[in-house]
Amino acid sequence: MPEEPTASELLRRHRESLFPSVSLFYDEPIELRRGERQFVYDGDGRQYLDFFGGIVTVSTGHAVPEINDAIKEQLDRITHTSTLFLIRSQIELAERLRAMTPDKLNKVFLTNSGTEANDAALLVTTLNRNSNELIALRHSYHGRSFATINASGQRHWRSTTLSPLQVHYARNPYCYRCPFGLEYPSCDVACAIDLEDLIRTSTSGNPAAFIAEPIQGVGGFITPPEGYFTRVKEILDKWGIPFICDEVQTAWGRLGVADWGFQAYGVEPDVVVFAKGLANGIPIGGLIATDELASSIRSLSLSTFGGNPIASTAALANLNYIATNNLRENALVVGAHLKERLWELQERHWSIGDVRGMGLMVGVELVRDKETKEPAPDIANAVLSEAKRRGLIVGKGGLDGNTLRISPPLIVTNDDVDAAIVILDETFTAAEANPA
Ligand SMILES: Cc1ncc(COP(=O)(O)O)c(C=O)c1O
Repeated sequence: MPEEPTASELLRRHRESLFPSVSLFYDEPIELRRGERQFVYDGDGRQYLDFFGGIVTVSTGHAVPEINDAIKEQLDRITHTSTLFLIRSQIELAERLRAMTPDKLNKVFLTNSGTEANDAALLVTTLNRNSNELIALRHSYHGRSFATINASGQRHWRSTTLSPLQVHYARNPYCYRCPFGLEYPSCDVACAIDLEDLIRTSTSGNPAAFIAEPIQGVGGFITPPEGYFTRVKEILDKWGIPFICDEVQTAWGRLGVADWGFQAYGVEPDVVVFAKGLANGIPIGGLIATDELASSIRSLSLSTFGGNPIASTAALANLNYIATNNLRENALVVGAHLKERLWELQERHWSIGDVRGMGLMVGVELVRDKETKEPAPDIANAVLSEAKRRGLIVGKGGLDGNTLRISPPLIVTNDDVDAAIVILDETFTAAEANPA
């Protein structure tokens, strides 16, 4: 057998051949060479508990036989045909998505990524409303294409301000750092009420859409308070503005309380965008929209790979696995345990400012001081590396890069959480001992 390359050799070759904008975790990046259920293994065979799931994408678990067998069977039958031919699994997936969403959402378009899916949502809403104005939230992330870069409210991800869109950035429902300096619930959800002011003062009155994630992913798992989206939806309905709900990170039962994030907040969007975890790591994305919005594209439209037989088969197998194994309920129970245990850590560690999220999407915001709430990105970096050294993988995000993102595959157990907490406890002690 030829010798496998080491991580340091791969890092050198990565730097030589890949775009420098594609960043890596850790001072000493690793290759994850193999995965099994909630565990991954690096090039040296070291095992890690995976509490990030490839950025909330390995939704169920690594190498789940029921899902992989379905993919392999399809691979041997036919790999690709294009959307110019009938694809049974694609049609079945569209029907499945219709059954999972409100009645008014009944037309599906499948893509290969979340970026493309958001792009398509922006296309149908701008066409439908004959407007290029968009309202997006500060701290949001919606993708890396020319349109979605500027739909995103974070400077680190914005390589250009050129845009086909005119974007207005609304105040964020970020209770830990309330943009109005208020406290929930006495604030009366001022951030939602401010949306009407934004529409009246900054737009033509006819924006194409409002786009938001139920919980902001890249933004650091910022979790809007109860009542935020209902108030927002009332305002949008009054002005006739469609709501694009970007469920790229929040769908498929991850939040425990519901299949979708919008259900957790009790609202009905006009377009729902999804990707990441739908096929447990096989590339797929898409949107489901009302008939009216879907009919706004009057030219021809295709996606060569979007929802191809492999991706659609993987998605159906993954959705079946989630349903038959009650993984949404698991996310609710194990997610509640995870938050409890993290709150315990918060009492012991000075750098844990906030613990938030729903189900198995939990953010831990790190600060230099709980009073001043000064962001501590260096502690977040140290925690990531120290946790890796001890066999645990977690993610990070946030405008200041100071929020840990915990989003394990949905099959994790309370025992896995307890093992992760032991590691995090030691990790925080180490990281806090040597702040930069
Ligand atoms: C909420 C959200 N929307 C869209 C995207 C873009 O998806 P992709 O990276 O598949 O293009 C992401 C990616 O992280 C995301 O988190």
